[in-house]
Amino acid sequence: MSEVTTNEYNEDGKLIRKVRSFVRREGRLTKGQENAMNECWPTMGLDYQDQLLDWKVVFGNDNPVVLEIGFGMGASLVEMAKNAPDKNFIGIEVHSPGVGACLADAREARLTNLRVMCHDAVEVFANMIPDGSLSTLQLFFPDPWHKKRHHKRRIVQLEFAEMVRQKLKLEEGIFHMATDWQNYAEHMIEVMNQAPGFDNIAPEGDFIPRPEERPLTKFEARGHRLGHGVWDIKFKRTR
Ligand SMILES: C[S@@+](CC[C@H](N)C(=O)[O-])C[C@H]1O[C@@H](n2cnc3c(N)ncnc32)[C@H](O)[C@@H]1O
Repeated sequence: MSEVTTNEYNEDGKLIRKVRSFVRREGRLTKGQENAMNECWPTMGLDYQDQLLDWKVVFGNDNPVVLEIGFGMGASLVEMAKNAPDKNFIGIEVHSPGVGACLADAREARLTNLRVMCHDAVEVFANMIPDGSLSTLQLFFPDPWHKKRHHKRRIVQLEFAEMVRQKLKLEEGIFHMATDWQNYAEHMIEVMNQAPGFDNIAPEGDFIPRPEERPLTKFEARGHRLGHGVWDIKFKRTR
């Protein structure tokens, strides 16, 4: 596992080294995942580039765009895309076997409304996602980074919230988080309450009941087995 670093900047304020929310795991793709990568990437894969995407060009329609960060093996993302053909879905995951598994499932479900990327979502956000263009951002069971000294690696931070705000549609875009780690759930609420331009949609200003549209994810099932609770949180962009 690599060292946890803090962001470092050069004299001009340019970011030269940053904290990442993941550690790259060596992972070999199974034959099936590799085949799906080779066969489906031309139609469903998007390569990282330093250029804004145009959703109309990517999906060939104007349907609302739902983006998921860290979809793992992608089973729940594929299920959601299957259940909502009137929406476009884009998933970003750094772990390539997960991307291969997601493509294999998407092919089997004959999805036309799903695209995937294999890259750091923070960089994709900064350089490829047009402002005010997402109807929903989904972040389900992000790595909790349990140890206090690793908390700075948690993807939900003030800077990240501001980036999300810019990309969500004004006055309607939703940031949906779920976690099975209570301390991270509290951290999410704390950060999002501090972040300007968001309202918690929960009447009590905390958690919402598990929404029906969110299928069980692999990590959630694991959390259930370990006796963990699950916390769903939705914040809306207000300005
Ligand atoms: C704990 S897993 C949860 C996976 C899935 N959402 C689930 O519930 O089964 C977190 C996932 O987020 C991915 N991840 C973490 N940081 C990321 C980033 N900056 N960009 C893309 N993926 C990321 C990891 O590779 C990992 O697969």
